[in-house]
Amino acid sequence: MNYRKLGRTGIDVSEIGYGAWGIGGIQWKGGTDEESIAALHRAFELGLNFIDTALAYGDGHSERLVGDVIRNAPHLIHLATKVPPKNRLWPAQPGTKIEDVFPHGYILDCTEQSLRNLQVDTIDLQQLHVWNPEWVQSEEWRRAFEDLRTSGKVRYFGVSINDHQPNTALELIKTGLIDTVQVIYNIFDPSPAQSLLPLALEHNIGVIARVPLDEGALTGTITEHSTFEGDEFRGMYFRDDRPKQVVEHVNRLKADLEGVPGTLPEIALQFCLSNPAVSTVIPGMRKIRNVESNCSVSNRGPLSSAILEKLKPHAWKKNFYS
Ligand SMILES: NC(=O)c1ccc[n+]([C@@H]2O[C@H](COP(=O)([O-])OP(=O)(O)OC[C@H]3O[C@@H](n4cnc5c(N)ncnc54)[C@H](OP(=O)(O)O)[C@@H]3O)[C@@H](O)[C@H]2O)c1
Repeated sequence: MNYRKLGRTGIDVSEIGYGAWGIGGIQWKGGTDEESIAALHRAFELGLNFIDTALAYGDGHSERLVGDVIRNAPHLIHLATKVPPKNRLWPAQPGTKIEDVFPHGYILDCTEQSLRNLQVDTIDLQQLHVWNPEWVQSEEWRRAFEDLRTSGKVRYFGVSINDHQPNTALELIKTGLIDTVQVIYNIFDPSPAQSLLPLALEHNIGVIARVPLDEGALTGTITEHSTFEGDEFRGMYFRDDRPKQVVEHVNRLKADLEGVPGTLPEIALQFCLSNPAVSTVIPGMRKIRNVESNCSVSNRGPLSSAILEKLKPHAWKKNFYS
């Protein structure tokens, strides 16, 4: 496993981090805690040292599981979590007041809850789970971040940028008041590479590349007939004729990648790490075999510029979250 600086925090994070939404359950079915715990331990053995969770994932279940598992980790694990929007609206809606989404006291209270769930005294990285650029001058988040830093409860701060809207955090980066951004960045949505990633590099802001496998679309396992259990998130994400659209896009992608070493998900992760602005990429991975495959990507180095050029036409403008 190779490590990169998480921007100006100076923390050395593993190139492959652990996306801990799926292990929260509730919105992600098809896994067990036993499987998740085994997957996390295997990831640690392979050198992974960064986990991205959130208070909202499984109503705290993901954080509690992570808190239990890191106590037996063979090395220090750096923890990132998130404050959920108080109005429970993902993504942030234009026109909403920050007082209704991230009031000062609420950010503090949520952080206390996360500290209890994670069973730690300090959180390495606290993130706002949604972001609205209209809030950039607001005192609510600025004071909350300052108070949490001063009290020693949080070391660094960031935001998780709304789905497919990387440019909504450009002004925020320029304030110099955040340390990281978390953004959707994958073969289908490479748009952060235009403005956000160069700006992050210039300001030494850590970049956490999320949803690198497009919620499973870039694993190549979705078929035209894929269905998901009951109220599972993926049932919404891959609804109607979307599986068919995914299969068409993935088939074209696979044809262009013929001869490139690695499986499709491995190449998808390698794509993210090929951009030097990315500090860590955080696939969700609840199975040991996925952990092993994903962690192996760190040793491969970047994709060649010829392959990166070939991937450009595969950008796919869509928003399956809506
Ligand atoms: N708004 C936000 O802040 C936000 C939103 C979404 C995600 N995130 C963060 O980003 C992380 C990653 O996103 P995600 O988990 O939603 O989606 P993702 O990483 O794009 O895809 C996860 C899916 O890929 C499968 N997978 C992983 N590695 C594989 C491999 N090598 N071969 C085949 N399949 C593989 C997983 O399998 P299993 O089902 O077996 O695990 C899971 O179904 C989250 O866990 C979370 O930490 C943040």
